[in-house]
Amino acid sequence: MPKISLKKINSLKKNKIGISALTSYDASFAKLADNCGIDIILVGDSLGEVIQGNPNTHTVTMNDMCYHTKIVSKAIKKAFLIADMPKNSYKTKTQALKNAKKLVAKNMADMIKIEFKEKDIEVIKYLISHNILVCSHIGVLPQTIKNKSDYKKVGKTIDEANRLINESVLIEKLGSQMLVVECIDEQVAKIISRKLHIPVIGIGSGKSCDGQIRVIYDIFGISFNGIPGFLKPKNIKLNPMKKILEKYITNTNKYKL
Ligand code: KIV
Repeated sequence: MPKISLKKINSLKKNKIGISALTSYDASFAKLADNCGIDIILVGDSLGEVIQGNPNTHTVTMNDMCYHTKIVSKAIKKAFLIADMPKNSYKTKTQALKNAKKLVAKNMADMIKIEFKEKDIEVIKYLISHNILVCSHIGVLPQTIKNKSDYKKVGKTIDEANRLINESVLIEKLGSQMLVVECIDEQVAKIISRKLHIPVIGIGSGKSCDGQIRVIYDIFGISFNGIPGFLKPKNIKLNPMKKILEKYITNTNKYKL
């Protein structure tokens, strides 16, 4: 099967077929997801939590992102690959372009992702004018919160809902080709998904988005800082990997030495 293009992902939205997306950071998980038929893989800066064991994503560097993006890009054959721009890597237009180019160089990422703040408008325009494909991210922005307990649904008040809807319309106008909506009110996420022409991929934002993204370690129930509320408890069979490891340990303990 050929590599999944942005055109193909757009056609999934058009035909109302849910787009599947997962994070990956290493070759084995990336290959597993790719072989299973995932549409999009994101090398997320969530690696700061699940790989590095930090309370948040803030310490992730460009070097970390390049390292993991290179590994994942080599391991997959089909999935569309997005890489996160980590905190402090897009403070100015020129810094952003220099760093984005590192992630898309040598056929690594197909697109980069930025956590959208109003001050980033010029950065986004600049990247797009230099042919970088940009996915914007709104709602809860992990680069601005300290730990899991700061995750709160946004968009519940009329003012917040209007702000999110206006932001998403602006993001599409700027030329972003995809939008991630994290932990936003389900009705607001639905309105945004219907209003925009670009694919809207949700996490903790209900089932009406054009697609869903999850941190792969959350799906397996092994994330270092615990599983986010919206995946607990019914959506996840708690820790299938733990059972496999426990079985291995008990079996080994039975060996007669
Ligand atoms: O870094 C990440 O894993 C993300 C997803 C939660 C969307 O940005």
